[in-house]
Amino acid sequence: MKLLIDSADVDAIRHILEFYPIDGVTTNPTILKKAGRPPFAALKEIKALIGGAQLHVQAVSRDAAGMVEEGRSIAASLGENTFVKIPSVPEGFKAMRILAGEGINVTATAVYTPMQAYLAGMCGARYAAPYVNRIDNMGYDGVQAAKDIHDIFEKNRMGCQVLAASFKNSRQVLELCKYGIGAATAGPDIIEGFVKDPAIASAVEAFIRDFEDLAGPGQTMASL
Ligand code: G3P
Repeated sequence: MKLLIDSADVDAIRHILEFYPIDGVTTNPTILKKAGRPPFAALKEIKALIGGAQLHVQAVSRDAAGMVEEGRSIAASLGENTFVKIPSVPEGFKAMRILAGEGINVTATAVYTPMQAYLAGMCGARYAAPYVNRIDNMGYDGVQAAKDIHDIFEKNRMGCQVLAASFKNSRQVLELCKYGIGAATAGPDIIEGFVKDPAIASAVEAFIRDFEDLAGPGQTMASL
C-alpha cells in the first residue's frame, strides 16, 4: 500500500517527508482553502518538495468540458506524476474518458459507493478514492466499501487501484493496509498517530538510560 499525505500545508508536508516514507501528496479544494494561498503557488511549492512523487490535484468545474480543460492545465503546469482528481459524477465520467484517452493520470474522487469506483475504472481512472470516514459517518462501513472496490478492480482485472481517503484514525488505515489496497492518503496528524504512544517513547527512553548507565552520560555506539 502506498502512503500519501492529504494536505497542502507546506510546513506539515516538509516535516512528514523528513521522517516518514511517503509516496506523494493529495489535495482537494477544501485542503487548498485551509492552506490559504493561491492554489498554483502552493502546489508548485509542494511539487518542488516531493520531486517525482505523486501529486493529486482536483478539478472544480461542473461540466465535462471544464473538467477536461482544468485537467490539461493541471497536468501541464505540474508535470510528471501529476494526477487530476475528477469527481465521480456523470459529467466527471465523461471527462475521465477524455483525459485518460490523452494519457493524463486520473484519480476518481468523491467516491461513496463501490459502483461509482467501478464506473471510474471503466473510464480509465488510475485511482478511485473512497471517503472512508465520511462513509462511516453516513452509517455505512467505509473500510468495507474500500475493500469491495479493491475486490472489484482485482476480480475484473481493471487497471485501477484504490486510493482510500478521509481517515480519522489509525485503525481505518491499518485495516486497509492489511488488505493490500493500492494506496491510502491521510492527514499529517493521522500519519504521526501511527507511532504516537507513550509506551513507544518510554521503551526507547529506557534503552537510552540503560546504555548511559553502562557507558556514561551522552555516550552512544558511535562515541565509544
Ligand atoms: O479528498 C478527500 C479527503 O481528503 C476527504 O477527507 O477529512 O474531508 O473527509 P475529509
